[in-house]
Amino acid sequence: MNTPNPALRESATFDRGVISEIQRAAETGIYDIRGWGAKRKLPHFDDLLFLGASMSRYPLEGYREKCDTDVVLGDRNAKFPLHLDIPITIAGMSFGALSGQAKEALGRGASEVGTSTTTGDGGMTPEERGQSKNLVYQYLPSRYGMNPDDLRKADAIEIVLGQGAKPGGGGMLLGQKITERVAGMRTLPMGVDQRSACRHPDWTGPDDLAIKIIELREITNWEKPIYIKVGATRTYYDVKLAVKAGADVVVVDGMQGGTAATQDVFIEHVGIPTLAAIPQAVQALQELGVHRSGATGRRSVQLIVSGGIRSGADVAKAMALGADAVAIGTAALIALGDNSPRYAKQYEELGSAAGFYDDFQAGRDPAGITTQDPDLSKNLDPVEGGRRLANYLRVLTMEAQTLARACGKSHLRNLEPEDLVALTVEASAMARVPLAGTTWIPGAM
Ligand SMILES: Cc1cc2nc3c(=O)[nH]c(=O)nc-3n(C[C@H](O)[C@H](O)[C@H](O)COP(=O)(O)O)c2cc1C
Repeated sequence: MNTPNPALRESATFDRGVISEIQRAAETGIYDIRGWGAKRKLPHFDDLLFLGASMSRYPLEGYREKCDTDVVLGDRNAKFPLHLDIPITIAGMSFGALSGQAKEALGRGASEVGTSTTTGDGGMTPEERGQSKNLVYQYLPSRYGMNPDDLRKADAIEIVLGQGAKPGGGGMLLGQKITERVAGMRTLPMGVDQRSACRHPDWTGPDDLAIKIIELREITNWEKPIYIKVGATRTYYDVKLAVKAGADVVVVDGMQGGTAATQDVFIEHVGIPTLAAIPQAVQALQELGVHRSGATGRRSVQLIVSGGIRSGADVAKAMALGADAVAIGTAALIALGDNSPRYAKQYEELGSAAGFYDDFQAGRDPAGITTQDPDLSKNLDPVEGGRRLANYLRVLTMEAQTLARACGKSHLRNLEPEDLVALTVEASAMARVPLAGTTWIPGAM
């Protein structure tokens, strides 16, 4: 291997990644498509710290005093809101992007710990419905697999306006993943690349959306909570309009949010970080009087946050900033067994490495998760995958409880911005919590 001469200076502007991308583009004439979320360094939850209790605050005993974790989603209008045991839900990921085994494993894992999972851009599979105690049905611009009977079989409906990885863009599923079953569910030809719509065909703004929401409520007998999911951009306005249109729950997905496939340029250059989006969403909800703060303040519209949630600390920080729950995508796939060192050799053969594999669109995932190949899919045992996911969700919950107790909170929902400080000026300005050791929040009046 050639070791570069240490005297050579690498350019910060044209670093080796940039050079190699220019060379790749020049060689192939095609843009780079990949899965996963933004890989650049962004202000994130790591830039926040909790102020554990000491003299001026009183902590709870970790092993003796309770810290509850349940959450109710969608009780504004729905006859049957979702009652979840933990505030960590599984984000929408399509059958097509994921194998049937992966969808089943997600349902098994989520149900074991009393939380929900979500369909995706491709319809509802019997594996997923069968194994999910609480299943949220996505209603997407593409309408792939949309079926009024499945709407009625769901426990909640999520109208997807956008994703954090690609706000303003549509989905992508390359031909190699469009097998007979996927094509049948989406009414598409087999083996042909599919680029789905970036906007819904039958409304242009919130007034039309309000009518659509009433239609959805009527066909489901006003039983199901209606969520609206937006990719984080102009979050303050989008959340206000989502509530005005009738959402019971608003899902805000930041730019670190994962995707099954889109252009790299989109993932890295569109949207705002999750950290910046939460306070904007909370401000919008508070101004509408649907997100009263304080320990007993009832929140009539709930906020779910996603995009880069990895640990119990991330969960607790998102909730302290005002989320009622979080959703996870990428981390759930890793927990199932994706990017496992067990498949290191196979990832290498694909020109990747365990921990780096992001070519979900290629459908050759040796772990059997982001594939439709029947032989590869067999590598994922849905029971074992479900067990791993349930373990991971338990760990996230225990970690979040540990932090909440240290802040003196007997319920995760009682965490508040006052429990947090920021490590950097950027994070302080975005999260609207003081820079550590000061009372200063840049930009605050
Ligand atoms: C493989 C994969 C498939 C996805 N498919 C969909 C989809 O069909 N509909 C959707 O709204 N979001 C989809 N997403 C985005 C997730 O719902 C979620 O917004 C995102 O993964 C959250 O960020 P995280 O991956 O950092 O947890 C997908 C994400 C992944 C990783």
